[in-house]
Amino acid sequence: MALPLSKAFAQKVTPADAKMDAFVSGLMKKMTVDEKIGQLNLVTVGRATTGAVVNSNVEAGIKNGNIGGVFGVWGTEYVQKIQDLAVKNSRLHIPLIFGLDVIHGHRTIFPIPLGMSATWDMGLIQESAQIAAKEATAEGLNWVFSPMVDIARDPRWGRISEGSGEDPWYGGQVAAAMVKGYQGSSMTNADAVMACVKHFALYGGAEAGREYNTVDMSRIKMYQDYLPPYKAAVDAGAGSFMSSFNTVDGIPATGNKWLLTDLLRKQWGFKGFVVSDYTAVNEMSNHGLGDLQTVSALALKAGLDMDMVGEGFLKTLKKSLKEGKVTQAEIDIACRRVLEAKYKLGLFNNPYKSIDPEREKTDVMTPANLQASRKIAEHSFVLLKNANQVLPLKKSGTKIAVVGPLADDKRDMLGTWVVAGEWEKSVSVLEGIHHIVGNNGTVTYAKGSNITEDTMFMNRLNYFGQQMVSIDKRSSDDMLNEAVKNAKDADVVVAVVGESQSMSGESSSRSDISIPESQERMLKALAKTGKPLVIVLFNGRPLTLTWEDEHADAILDVWAPGTEAGNAVAEVLFGNYNPAGKLTATFPRSVGQIPIYYNHKNTGRPYSGGPTKFKSNYLDISNDPLYPFGYGLSYTTFSYSDVKLNKTNLKGNETLTATVTVTNTGKYEGEEVVQLYVSDPVASISRSVQELKNFKKINLKPGEKQDVTFNITPADLKFYNSRLQYDWEPGEFIIRVGTSSVDTHMAKVNWSK
Ligand code: BGC
Repeated sequence: MALPLSKAFAQKVTPADAKMDAFVSGLMKKMTVDEKIGQLNLVTVGRATTGAVVNSNVEAGIKNGNIGGVFGVWGTEYVQKIQDLAVKNSRLHIPLIFGLDVIHGHRTIFPIPLGMSATWDMGLIQESAQIAAKEATAEGLNWVFSPMVDIARDPRWGRISEGSGEDPWYGGQVAAAMVKGYQGSSMTNADAVMACVKHFALYGGAEAGREYNTVDMSRIKMYQDYLPPYKAAVDAGAGSFMSSFNTVDGIPATGNKWLLTDLLRKQWGFKGFVVSDYTAVNEMSNHGLGDLQTVSALALKAGLDMDMVGEGFLKTLKKSLKEGKVTQAEIDIACRRVLEAKYKLGLFNNPYKSIDPEREKTDVMTPANLQASRKIAEHSFVLLKNANQVLPLKKSGTKIAVVGPLADDKRDMLGTWVVAGEWEKSVSVLEGIHHIVGNNGTVTYAKGSNITEDTMFMNRLNYFGQQMVSIDKRSSDDMLNEAVKNAKDADVVVAVVGESQSMSGESSSRSDISIPESQERMLKALAKTGKPLVIVLFNGRPLTLTWEDEHADAILDVWAPGTEAGNAVAEVLFGNYNPAGKLTATFPRSVGQIPIYYNHKNTGRPYSGGPTKFKSNYLDISNDPLYPFGYGLSYTTFSYSDVKLNKTNLKGNETLTATVTVTNTGKYEGEEVVQLYVSDPVASISRSVQELKNFKKINLKPGEKQDVTFNITPADLKFYNSRLQYDWEPGEFIIRVGTSSVDTHMAKVNWSK
């Protein structure tokens, strides 16, 4: 049941630009400077925070018109109370915007974004965002701090888990799908939210993978490799952006005029508003840009519209106006953009649009939403190894030893950023396996080891005071002996290991990205039993897995799969669904290879194998990753024909078609992600060795074959040259089609202008 509208906004306003202009202009005429600055102030009431400051006096601030939005709250009762303060008690009755970090689902949790990206299925990704929007709006929200589209090439950085990996074109596809899912056909719809694309920009380029660290890169690299997903989100109609914590060209992104105005608005045509990240305005002082008044003025002048938590705008902009350090026009434009966002969301028509206690009961964690979560999780799993077809497991007559500290675990199933997620409701892997095996086989369980026994590490993982990770009362040896005994008695061992929830995500950089030592020790003991060893790997980032790759029989990478984790894992282990996920981030052999990514440049001295000197390689390790971008096995096998082209000499805007025949040569029905890469071996600048340009996901029954055709046009050949012009240069191009970035068939063409 919808609640009564505020009288002040009972008049209908339709979302057409001219009407919006007239409405907002009319409203702004009535506003004082203080009220305008108030709209630029975003506060949290402390239910979810990632920094030191939590705003106080929120109630008075809202009534006085000093607050434009609130985040960190959800639930219709609570949100309504806060909205009432603004709509019923402030002078101009301007509604608040309500935001939250809804990152991979609201209540029903989906796989972490890095896992979701491994589906290579934009329909599923969009569906996840749509469901998240429906659940979030059912709990009073209208704005989500997602998608995170930061390209990351360094798995030490914990926030690689929140993005779509290393490829700029692919990242753009995912960004667009997420924005469309959140915002729906119109943001005025009751079940749509406004997306907030973050973190603008280049946040994933942090030096040494260390959180919040300096970013410094050339313009060509920015444009070619890091900016495309943000641009794709603008093109998809994203309503808001969040500035990042890092510097860009030496200037913090939050106060960077080139970034927020010249690039985002003038070059890309972005029409929404930009909010800072959490206290990012204040943090510009630590970057060395001056005191709070100086950095706040700098941020506003650069094009930042809303200040998250730090109250720099609130406390200093009026003073700066009086002193001529900012202009009224600059305050007005930021205020206008925030009001426009509220207008686009339909909040002036109905400030209580997402406050419907009925929907809160019916639309959250529904069986359909859980079903979708399970399906998306299954599609996100990447089979990294499967020697001797040890997977899928037989559903009956098998003795399975389930071991590992993540096997009988619910909390870690959800992964990072699950603000409103309820881990108690998630399904553990052990439960999922029991659901399928029932009475038809034997399943034993032993924890086997602690997640980690490193006290300093543990203390950091437990920063929020909860026992996210704890040490078992039993001794390590007792736990290990139990696991080994179970393994010896079983036909197959399923070891559920890897990273716990707080090991990845924000402020979770790791210098060693292997499985923690206590778990490694258990894996080594299990391998010694000689029983087939299946690793179910939980991870928020690529890990170094050379030992596991050598010694385990199978490795199924399940990331952090979400609420339905255990059911999804079991469906895949027993072959009810044949895994088809492919990596979107390279897995290094060692931390020493980082940054490592498939679309690197050639060097002047490329290495091509064998003992050699004065080539670009390491003395102690190969250049190759352990698992490359685009890689992922299936229970079945696929063969690829050579690439057939419609022509080999092209001119101007002609279209090239590249066709391969893909055959399912194995025993199971399965999906395959057919990938298209293009190389431009001679150009005016040194180009990446290859770039992903397209993909198609197909489904084939055993013995079935299908022609897969890609259309390639000059748009696929374009790149940023040294003058930052986006164009293509004639010459030879290599077209590669295959099952991963390192397993392709190629053909060459000449393309003239
Ligand atoms: C994070 C953002 C997040 C914000 C609000 C920050 O620390 O960097 O991604 O949206 O907090 O919670």
